[in-house]
Parts: sequence; structure tokens; C-alpha cells
Amino acid sequence: MRTVITDSPEAAAVYIRSGGVVAFPTETVYGLGANVFNAAAVARIFEAKRRPADNPLIVHIGSLKQLDLLTSEVKGSARRLMDHFFPGPLTVVVRRSPEVSDIVTAGLHSIGVRMPASDIARRFIESCGVPIAAPSANLSGRPSPTTWQAVLEDLDGRIDCILQGEPTKIGLESTIVDCTKAQPRLLRTGAISIDGLRHVVPNIIEPEPDELIEIRSPGLRHRHYSPNAKVVIASGEDNTGGQEETAYIGITVPIAVYKLTAVCRSMDEYAGRIFEFFRECDRQGIETIYCEAVPAEGIGAALMDRIRRATEN
Ligand code: TXA
Ligand code: MG
Repeated sequence: MRTVITDSPEAAAVYIRSGGVVAFPTETVYGLGANVFNAAAVARIFEAKRRPADNPLIVHIGSLKQLDLLTSEVKGSARRLMDHFFPGPLTVVVRRSPEVSDIVTAGLHSIGVRMPASDIARRFIESCGVPIAAPSANLSGRPSPTTWQAVLEDLDGRIDCILQGEPTKIGLESTIVDCTKAQPRLLRTGAISIDGLRHVVPNIIEPEPDELIEIRSPGLRHRHYSPNAKVVIASGEDNTGGQEETAYIGITVPIAVYKLTAVCRSMDEYAGRIFEFFRECDRQGIETIYCEAVPAEGIGAALMDRIRRATEN
């Protein structure tokens, strides 16, 4: 299959309408989308990414009207979160309607819904005319792509089209909140922090320890965010690097000399660069990546979560 690259959301949407799979930029990371109501097209997402079938997909909408197609009722905390944070980097898990096929939700009775904020994503979804099921547009287990080139690196020849946009603004995946129980629960942190969520829904509870999440949200047990290199959490002053195939990313200027060094001016910049840095390290055969620890506040919590997951592989 030839993968077409275009910068036109309308041209990319044509592939969706004919049952294809298309990678597209959002403000978080690039997604790999298909028509949520075309089971064969959704199956091709799993195939292209080599994604295990028990890992549910989130569904992207262009307007709140499309919610009715996916879920029967949105009230209480789910409604408040959507009213406040949509469009934006938040996924809200609600009860799914029977019209959504099992392949999308991996058989769960719930569905994750997100309305991206980026203009190009919105134009694309609008032009598709249907909600778009889309996981991140990487091969399963690789870091999420924040540039169209990273999508091409993983999926060239495996998907119909890449909608070419700027590097994504946030660079970490959306915050996910499960609103299917009496008490809403954070499943994954992102640019919207738990404190931000609690301004709107004060009773949101913390994520469960990984062992329990694995039972409740099948997808979160799979390998995530991992470069081939070993990832080590370090402090900026550490003098651990300096050997040949090592790299460093952080905010503090390191003392040691590394083969690759990324010094970021802010936590937002650090979050925005981390996944692409992981990929660059793999391209250059780096063996160990030192990531500076940052305070787990605001986007720092999401950043440390992704780094911690990367150290586990
Ligand atoms: O920012 C994002 O969320 C990006 C962009 C493309 O929107 N998407 C993304 O999708 O990161 P993905 O599939 O890589 O991560 C979504 C996570 C997965 O871990 C999946 O298991 C979980 O959400 N998930 C999906 N549906 C769920 C559900 N009904 N209940 C619990 N977890 C769910
Ligand atoms: Mg993913």
C-alpha cells in the first residue's frame, strides 16, 4: 500500500469516507483514525499498529451533537467535564451505546470520547462527517508520534494517508477520566492535571495502582512509551553520563557530556520534546537515556508518568 501524504484535511477525509485509515495531528499527539461505524476500517487500525485487540480505542468528535451517536446519556460529572474542557486534551469515559461495535471498545460497555482542540484536527473530523476512532499513530509499544515524520517512520506502507501538520503542541497524550462509576476516577494524567479537573469536579479520585488499572482498563497494561534504549530517571546535577552511547534530557544544564543532550527551557517544552527525543535516541543507537526528574505538578505529573513507564520496559 502506498501511504499518501497531504496537508489538506478535506483530501485526507476522502480516505476515511472510503473505509481507509488516516493519521492526523491533534494538539496532544498524532492519531490514527477510521470511521467509528465501519468495523472493517477500525480493524485495519489494529492491524497497522499491531495493537492487541483487547486495547480499546478512544473516539474523536467534532461537535457535541455527535455524542448522541456514541453514548445514550451524558450527565453529572461527565457533562461538567465536557462543558468545561471540550474541545481540549481530555478524554471522558462514559457508557457506550449499542451502535458502537465491540471492536472499538474491545468489548467494554464504556467508551472514551474526546474533542480535539487543534484547528486541523477539527477541520479533518468535520470533513469526515462521522466520529473518528483513533489511538496514537505509532506502532504498538513505541513512543507516541508528535510529528508526521515519526508517523511515517512507524507506519509507511501500512496506512492510506498522513495528514501533515505542525509538530503537536502538547506532546503528551490526553488526560483520561472514567465517569462510568458514582465517583469519577483519573485513569491517565495529561496536560490537564488532577488539580485542574478538581476545580470542575472536586470528587475525582487518583489513579489506582497499576496492578488494579490492569484489570479495569485492559489497554493500560500493555507496553507503553518505550524507546529501545534503557531509560533512567536522574537529577540534573548527576554526573552519571559521559560514556559513549548515552543521552540526557532535562531542564538543568548537565555537568557531564553526552552523545545527545536536550536542555529544555520549561516543563512544557520538556513534555513537548520527550517522545521525539526518545525516537532520535533510537535512530542514533543510544543505549541509555537519562531523564531529569521534575516536580510532579501540572504537566510535570504527566511527564513523570510517561518517563516512569518508559523505565519499566
Ligand atoms: O491524546 C490522546 O488521547 C491521543 C490522541 C490521538 O487523541 N490518543 C491516544 O490513544 O493516546 P491511545 O489509544 O494511544 O490511548 C488511549 C488509552 C489506551 O490506553 C486505552 O486502553 C484507554 O485509553 N481506553 C480507551 N477506551 C477506554 C475505555 N472505554 N475505558 C478505559 N480505558 C480506555
Ligand atoms: Mg497510544
